[in-house]
Amino acid sequence: MADRKASLSFDQQTLEFPVLNATLGPDVIDIKSLGNAGVFAFDPGFYSTASCTSKITFIDGDKGVLLYRGYPIDQLAYHSDYMEVCYLLLNGELPDAQEKNAFIKEINQAHELPPKMLHLFKGFDQDAHPMSILIALVGALSAFDSKNPKDPAGRYQMAIELIAKIPTIAAMCYRHTQGLAFIPPRADLSYAENFLHMMFAEEADSPAPDPILARAMDRIFTLHADHEQNASTSTVRMAGSTGANPIACIAAGIAALWGPAHGGANEAALNMLHQIGSEDKVESYLERAKDPKDPFLLMGFGHRVYKNYDPRAKIMRETCHEVLDLVGAKEDPIFKLALHLEKIALEDSYFVEKKLYPNVDFYSGITQSALGIPSTMFTVIFALARTVGWASNWIEMISDPQQRLSRPRQLYTGEKERAVKPIAERA
Ligand code: SDX
Repeated sequence: MADRKASLSFDQQTLEFPVLNATLGPDVIDIKSLGNAGVFAFDPGFYSTASCTSKITFIDGDKGVLLYRGYPIDQLAYHSDYMEVCYLLLNGELPDAQEKNAFIKEINQAHELPPKMLHLFKGFDQDAHPMSILIALVGALSAFDSKNPKDPAGRYQMAIELIAKIPTIAAMCYRHTQGLAFIPPRADLSYAENFLHMMFAEEADSPAPDPILARAMDRIFTLHADHEQNASTSTVRMAGSTGANPIACIAAGIAALWGPAHGGANEAALNMLHQIGSEDKVESYLERAKDPKDPFLLMGFGHRVYKNYDPRAKIMRETCHEVLDLVGAKEDPIFKLALHLEKIALEDSYFVEKKLYPNVDFYSGITQSALGIPSTMFTVIFALARTVGWASNWIEMISDPQQRLSRPRQLYTGEKERAVKPIAERA
């Protein structure tokens, strides 16, 4: 079926375009040559436009399927861990025990930041948003990078450095905003334990964090590791298409993630719960969310691609309940409110008809809050977890012989050409 064609007729002409076959999901009509006929395709928001080919992640939004390199997310969440998932996303296959140990060793050796970077934190007020600090510090990390991104081994090493160092930066962002001294990374702890240790330990040699809480954190990382061509990953690819420094491209991705329509939804969801305040106000806020004239939306609900339950949300919901039980927070008013809102929204015909289900970030925000993490850190933690996805997509993009500079066109609706009048003649 390699020579299937799609035809498009307009203005007494018929154009033919090749149809490209997908392994799973929709095939794609290759319209690269459409511009030769003097017209462009128009798709603001990319509802129907594939921007690249990829072998990393597959989503079937109608069926609620998410595969990393072909493996279902629930199997990875229950039978694997974040380090294995990082290896899988970067290398295409799950590691065996020896490969896993070698990978963890490489990561553990790279957690420390260049000492000069520690001075940069002093430039930020204590009340700066941790996402501002993260974007600046990851951008700054590009200044210390000596890997050659043109060399495949250099690209891989760049990914290892980022996966290892972003948790250190993230934990330091937290401690800076809390006015606490930094705690250095520890190579004897797992990836998630080390992160919780750098965030919360009183001393460098404090006991390791509770393994159940570390497991919950590892699951948050695993469920956020990659998600196809979302806004931040597309930003990383687009910035990378110019040949820019890959670490600077990841900083661009972190900036794109921050918005409340994307990764900032977890913080926005918790702020929304505080805004609603009590269970008796849920109905009136639901009415506001349904009113097209009211800008209020239910944060943590809805998704561009999933028109069925986000499979990550199902797993995150379970983890959320486990953590709430473990820390004894089920009776906390804000968590009771969250569960009440979830129940009412799932029964409400507006949300049911528009298929607006709670997404992964509704539950990840509640879970992190129960772990004692302030809401301003939620998107930082999402960025930490998504780093492997961004790096894997950047490597795939830069290694693709079809890769070109990303340069969209536009439908111009402004003034036609006109002459500049001398200033005295302008009304
Ligand atoms: C992430 O893309 C990814 O993969 C992202 C992500 C990842 O892992 O990378 O999964 C992470 O970004 C999760 C999404 C987090 N965002 C939120 O939780 C914010 C709240 N959600 C919405 O803003 C919204 O649902 C979006 C942005 C997520 C998706 O929006 P779309 O696809 O652009 O859909 P839309 O805005 O056009 O909405 C369609 C309809 C509209 O009503 P109508 O004009 O048809 O009457 O649904 C309504 C919207 O008003 N709607 C909502 C709603 N979301 C959509 N109404 C109330 N509350 C909401 N949350």
